[in-house]
Amino acid sequence: MTLRAAGPADVEAIMALERASFPTDAWSDAMMREEIASPHGWYIVDEEAGRLVGYAGLRAVRGAQDADVQTITIAESARGRGRGRTLLRALLAEAADRRVHDVFLEVRADNPVAQALYVSEGFLEIGRRPRYYQPDDVDAVVMKLDLRGWAARDAASADDAGVCT
Ligand SMILES: CC(C)(COP(=O)(O)OP(=O)(O)OC[C@H]1O[C@@H](n2cnc3c(N)ncnc32)[C@H](O)[C@@H]1OP(=O)(O)O)[C@@H](O)C(=O)NCCC(=O)NCCS
Repeated sequence: MTLRAAGPADVEAIMALERASFPTDAWSDAMMREEIASPHGWYIVDEEAGRLVGYAGLRAVRGAQDADVQTITIAESARGRGRGRTLLRALLAEAADRRVHDVFLEVRADNPVAQALYVSEGFLEIGRRPRYYQPDDVDAVVMKLDLRGWAARDAASADDAGVCT
């Protein structure tokens, strides 16, 4: 698994994955292009044998105390092997480097897989936006992570790993 920064040349492959993963509410090419180019964004891709199998993006305005996980996607054939968690952790580590305190995200209420990933990293549900996803008429679950708590937990588990090896 190779992670690297996303660039304009990745938009076509990212959009193919975006449309396959979000058939009813995919972003537009223009929106994705803008997000990747934004100085407030931080987008990464995951490659396997030269093929793009995942991408994720963070929005963290320089100097702000909060940030948002904008998107995270793994190709269907590559799911369930830890790649999604690795992408999420890379976003959270970048947010920590930017001195962010809280990370927010929205996830579809009918997406238990993504919710389980977020909860397992320490995100808590803080509210719902009724019927936020259209045309599917699905609620958004709004979640928040205390990033300093996450970073402390991450450091503690790294220490534990050190003791065991
Ligand atoms: C959500 C997504 C990014 C997770 O990526 P992934 O590589 O499959 O996930 P991982 O293998 O890293 O697993 C991370 C956690 O997700 C949850 N998870 C993964 N697959 C699951 C499944 N089939 N059923 C239930 N939970 C699952 C588990 O909590 C898992 O942790 P565990 O392995 O310790 O049990 C991926 O499923 C995806 O791209 N889905 C479509 C796009 C999407 O919904 N994106 C999120 C939008 S908010």
